Amino acid sequence: MLHVLSHTSHLTIPHLKKSSTFANMKVLVTGGTGYIGSHTVVELQQKGFEVVIADNLVNSYRETVDRIAKITGKCPAFEHIDLTDKHLVDQIFAKYSDIQHIIHFAALKAVGESVQQPLKYYHNNINALINILESMRKYAVKNLVFSSSCTVYGQPDVLPVTETSPIQPALSPYGHTKQICEEIITNTTAISNFNAVLLRYFNPVGAHPSALIGEFPIGAPNNLMPCITQSAIGKRPELKVFGNDYNTPDGTAIRDYIHVVDLAQSHVAALERFIGEQNTKKLEIYNIGTGNGFSVLEIIHSFEKVSGKKLNYQIVERRAGDIEKIWADTSLANRELQWKAQSGIDEMMASAWRWEQALSAPNVLR
Ligand code: NAD
Ligand code: UFG
Repeated sequence: MLHVLSHTSHLTIPHLKKSSTFANMKVLVTGGTGYIGSHTVVELQQKGFEVVIADNLVNSYRETVDRIAKITGKCPAFEHIDLTDKHLVDQIFAKYSDIQHIIHFAALKAVGESVQQPLKYYHNNINALINILESMRKYAVKNLVFSSSCTVYGQPDVLPVTETSPIQPALSPYGHTKQICEEIITNTTAISNFNAVLLRYFNPVGAHPSALIGEFPIGAPNNLMPCITQSAIGKRPELKVFGNDYNTPDGTAIRDYIHVVDLAQSHVAALERFIGEQNTKKLEIYNIGTGNGFSVLEIIHSFEKVSGKKLNYQIVERRAGDIEKIWADTSLANRELQWKAQSGIDEMMASAWRWEQALSAPNVLR
């Protein structure tokens, strides 16, 4: 059953907002069954784009394709491939010779696992990108949007961070792959005729208002949001708050949390900039956040308010490798992409909670 739940007006209502503006424009979305990718595919299809998803399902489910179809009324093409296989990547470009844009989400993203298995992360995240870039060159596909992360800034000296803030040494092999991928794209755009946009995401949370797609962590989650919703629903006994002795107003660490639907819409905005030939440089970089920082305790209190659930949490030691505080200066993205995050924290919490509850329903993802 498609249950469309209340949401603020900026978000699209399934089946209602369809535009033919971008009809017949084909976009390859790697990692399109994943958390951010699936929400982006929904937004793209609702704008009229034709989507081809390429994903090896290492951290997602085939059923997400059906759920995207339920939300949008249209089934994206799906190719089950490992992007580290150069030959298979080439075959996708040959099969869909009319691909005009690529949004490259596919990557492994578990920070802790990357410390334990660095080669797995370097192999997967870097080889997948190289294969995409080589096929883009061979098939003359010009436009790439790449998923980067605010992790490239480390702990900034000055807040909020702008796109010109210094890049700091990576705290994990995962973070390092993002830095290396940014450099590979920078070097490649410098000597070729294609355009790239690096979107540096801050902390995506929440889920689609339909509660049909959302974050589905395989194994024990590490991120705050799924830890909160899983402890609220009873999947985990308690929530740990990592440190309350930071130099912040309530002592807990601060991040810039952004609704995943807002984040997804920034990708559409990046494609619209390519299509309108508004990009002024071959490589453009944008911070994708809200511009607001919230502490862990503020997030917990917002969740408790919107869910009516009291969270069982306790303060424990700081988590190794965590930074104290970061939030984005988003003025460049607001101005140039003509995009701005709309949802507030309460709405992010409400959608994350609806999603967690939907996951407990009988027709859960497999
Ligand atoms: P996700 O794990 O939900 O989605 C990634 C998708 O890529 C998965 O469906 C996975 O199966 C697929 N994939 C991985 N390696 C692949 C390969 N070799 N071939 C084919 N498919 C492969 O992650 P997400 O949260 O949606 O993140 C999307 C992107 O955004 C990633 O590049 C991630 O590093 C980046 N990012 C995420 C966050 C976050 O907090 N979620 C923050 C900053 C940046
Ligand atoms: N936290 C807790 N308890 C938990 C989980 C997290 O207190 O159970 C705290 C963390 O210590 C941190 C904050 O909540 O202060 C946010 O932690 P997350 O793990 O949700 O997010 P991070 O900012 O540490 O990192 C995330 C992704 C990275 C990505 C980065 C920026 O995990 O991959 O956002 O996009 F690079």
